[in-house]
Amino acid sequence: MEVILKSDPESLCRLAADMITDLMQRKPDAVLGLATGSTPLKLYAELIRRHREEGLDFSRVRTFNLDEYVGLGPDHPQSYASYMRNHFFSSVNVHPDSTHIPNGFTEDIPAECAAYEQAIQDAGGIDLQILGIGTDGHIGFNEPTSSLTSRTRIKTLTARTLADNARFFEQEADQPHHVITMGIGTILESRQAVLLAFGDSKADAIAQAVEGPLTASVPASALQLHPKAHVFVDEAAGSQLERQDYYRWVYDQKPR
Ligand code: PGA
Repeated sequence: MEVILKSDPESLCRLAADMITDLMQRKPDAVLGLATGSTPLKLYAELIRRHREEGLDFSRVRTFNLDEYVGLGPDHPQSYASYMRNHFFSSVNVHPDSTHIPNGFTEDIPAECAAYEQAIQDAGGIDLQILGIGTDGHIGFNEPTSSLTSRTRIKTLTARTLADNARFFEQEADQPHHVITMGIGTILESRQAVLLAFGDSKADAIAQAVEGPLTASVPASALQLHPKAHVFVDEAAGSQLERQDYYRWVYDQKPR
């Protein structure tokens, strides 16, 4: 696991954008795994800037999002389909047919989940997966005690995640308690994973995920099994890591 600590989220988002740009230059039809929430907003803004100002070409890129709320159709303003259109897809030249988000409005959730897994396989697997982390240590919406080998399926959100995300919903009754999420096993099959975390509220989850034991109680700790996982944290999110000096020393010696 590579851990990079920097003072500001902007420079970490530029680093993540560099990784995506390098991948797209090597593989114009790269398969990107995408995340929602507050964390990746600056990353999407940087990718949009590169598209507009530097011609970064998404025309052949395929994308798979981590998760979606059960019961919210793609046009619902709080759906992750809306989030992705508003914050990224409508501002770059990715083909709408090449973007994939689980359909939370399906009547057959197991079939939707199986089809999602199949679509990832058919695309040749995910080249680079962007991840956030929940304050409870979730990745995607794999809440604590999720199986470390889980695949795309329905999950029930924890009270903590519901509270963390309540700000996006006008009324409590509007907030779904269930989601469809890629599994931890699905995420671990990505060829590279980049976990972004900013702010004090993530410090405990990051310390447990990176330096704590591998445990389903902290789903992000499963990234310890990933062959190419990168954890990009600002000073606040990295503040409880014990080996900060080592991570900085490794980064300073990295050939550029
Ligand atoms: P956030 O969510 O980016 O809004 O903090 C992260 C997550 O729940 O994975």
